[in-house]
Amino acid sequence: MDVIDAVAPLRDRVAAARRASRRVGFVPTMGALHLGHARLIERARRECDCVVVSIFVNPLQFDRPEDLRHYPRTLPADFEMCARLGVDVAFAPGTAEMYPADPSCTIQVGRVASHLCGRHRPGHFAGVATVVMKLFQIVQPDRAYFGEKDAQQLAVIRHLVRDFNVPVQVEAVATVREPDGLALSSRNQRLNAEERRLAPALYRALCEARRSVAEGTTDPEPVRRAAVAAVPRHEGLRLEYLELVEPDTMQPVESIDGPVLAAGALWVGSTRLIDNLTCDPPGTGAPAGPVRE
Ligand code: PAF
Repeated sequence: MDVIDAVAPLRDRVAAARRASRRVGFVPTMGALHLGHARLIERARRECDCVVVSIFVNPLQFDRPEDLRHYPRTLPADFEMCARLGVDVAFAPGTAEMYPADPSCTIQVGRVASHLCGRHRPGHFAGVATVVMKLFQIVQPDRAYFGEKDAQQLAVIRHLVRDFNVPVQVEAVATVREPDGLALSSRNQRLNAEERRLAPALYRALCEARRSVAEGTTDPEPVRRAAVAAVPRHEGLRLEYLELVEPDTMQPVESIDGPVLAAGALWVGSTRLIDNLTCDPPGTGAPAGPVRE
């Protein structure tokens, strides 16, 4: 595996792969890699000839300085995982390489970011869209792989690619969960034992929404209320939002007559976790039951 920390050699390496007619697959990450990332990389490995993984903690997408400061950084273990999974190139630039100066042009994200995390983390998706656009320009992949756990991010990237005619195929990979339902996330590392016990509360609340939609409730408000009520009252838990949105536009739905996304953010102590589930009304999509993965 080649480890590259600068843009110019990365471009040369990928250009050589492309000259050899190799399909380039790209997995952008912020490191602290876990099994969820492994699934993205494995899929890219199966579908592409040259797999590039970027590891860059993007300061532009952090709305709170302490969150950026405490974001887990595990570069040696990340390289090890990438090598084990057969990654061809790990691209791990420093901040000065990605942002030699304060960027004068950034990408603004419209309506798709007006709810959920976009509403609660001002500037977050502008930071994500900007760095992903930069990474797409640098790597120029044929396919790029993103996790469904970050459903709004995935929607933002799909809109970005559509709006700017970026010649990349965006691939979504299912959320990986712990046996108790907790979605894998780099942030889970920050939970203490008691917080880890409480953390699946969000998943359970989303399951409640899914159950209610599967039973045929078409008014989103009672579905939402039942899901919110499923979050236990505990001083260590604070629900930031739980909404039912249309999966492409990420806009709240007024009536449930097709698949909707139940998405939430839950503070567990000082750690903010997000998760989502697709909810299918009766007679549409997958049968109610275990999570579709
Ligand atoms: O999902 C992430 O890890 C990040 O938001 C991404 C897509 C790598 C952009 O920094």
